[in-house]
Amino acid sequence: MIDNLMVYYPHIKFIHLFSVMIWSMSAVGAYVYYFRTTLFAAKKDPHNMELQRRLIWAYEQFDKTVVLEHIAFPVVLITGLLMFFMAGWSIDSQWLLIKLVIVIGFFIPLEILDVWISHVLGPRISKHRESDVDGWNQGRALHWKFLKIVSPWVGITIPLVIFLAVVKPAFW
Ligand code: HEM
Repeated sequence: MIDNLMVYYPHIKFIHLFSVMIWSMSAVGAYVYYFRTTLFAAKKDPHNMELQRRLIWAYEQFDKTVVLEHIAFPVVLITGLLMFFMAGWSIDSQWLLIKLVIVIGFFIPLEILDVWISHVLGPRISKHRESDVDGWNQGRALHWKFLKIVSPWVGITIPLVIFLAVVKPAFW
């Protein structure tokens, strides 16, 4: 059975790689070129109503952008696991061991938190934005803090995991 399925291994690897591309890059452009820029401009000039209006819009669009990221991530995990079992990979491969430590110890908790902030907290506070301005500001400040803390770590760990998977180095 597994032998028959092995003909599809390259296809699964393609889906894995393509989902990695979507997961790792979809929100980056929006974050760097729209969201962060809009936030800095609005913070610099808090009485400018046009900038405040743009900030609300940017927050709401960003919540939508991450949907694609959050669909791609489970696909990465499922296809990764499929390849792992199909080809008989094991954690004796040092690159894979280090990769899985990063995936399980960092990416999965990060995505769970991100899903909660973007799809539970975000829509909830946006719905009550008119009636609860303080709640909206606090919720958004939390979202911004989260992005600020995780961004440098994500910027290091994503290239590292891709390097490990492509080069497959041995360390010991
Ligand atoms: C966010 C998490 C992940 C990222 C960024 C990632 C990235 C990649 C990349 C870029 C490749 C392609 C390597 C190549 O072209 O040679 C790859 C291959 C692979 N991935 Fe992942 N992966 C992730 C999660 C996982 C998980 C959870 C597993 C298994 C449980 C897994 C198992 C594998 C295996 C076995 C290969 C090797 C395929 C081969 O060379 O035949 N990956 N991964």
